[in-house]
Amino acid sequence: MAKFTFAVLTASDKGSRGERQDMSGQVIRELVEEIGGELAEYLVIPDELEVIKEKLLWLVDERGVDLILTTGGTGLGPRDVTPDATLQVIDRLVPGIAEVMRMESLKKTSRAMLSRAVAGQRKRSLIINLPGSPKAVQECLEVILPALPHGIEIMK
Ligand code: MTE
Repeated sequence: MAKFTFAVLTASDKGSRGERQDMSGQVIRELVEEIGGELAEYLVIPDELEVIKEKLLWLVDERGVDLILTTGGTGLGPRDVTPDATLQVIDRLVPGIAEVMRMESLKKTSRAMLSRAVAGQRKRSLIINLPGSPKAVQECLEVILPALPHGIEIMK
């Protein structure tokens, strides 16, 4: 039996138009299924603040998904708005998750400091922003995955 449900939300203008394959979403899916997650929803949407907010609210309030992993849109570009949308829907931050992702990622690339990713709770769901590239997704997930099942368990 699955230990928890999860959703993948890829924020990508090109991905949402079918102009780019979503490799990062696939990496998330594989790594989270390995630790017992059951994929509840998988969405590829444009980098639009209101669309991201609407989907996050739907995933938490209607679908009751335990863990939502976003990928993309955490940088400094004008259309990078995923953390901003996340901050508008969470009840409280879980700062350690983003702190450890940046801390460990900085050992690999100084550009890790350019990710504005946040993590937080809304109701009984945990929302975590990951950067956009498959490499970054893999590097960030590797460091946070071991702690997530316990975090999800104690939210219930
Ligand atoms: N984190 C890790 N672990 N590995 C990476 O290659 N790339 C960085 C950063 N975080 C990177 C990383 C880069 S180049 C950018 S611009 C920011 O994430 C934001 O990426 P995003 O806009 O695709 O979310």
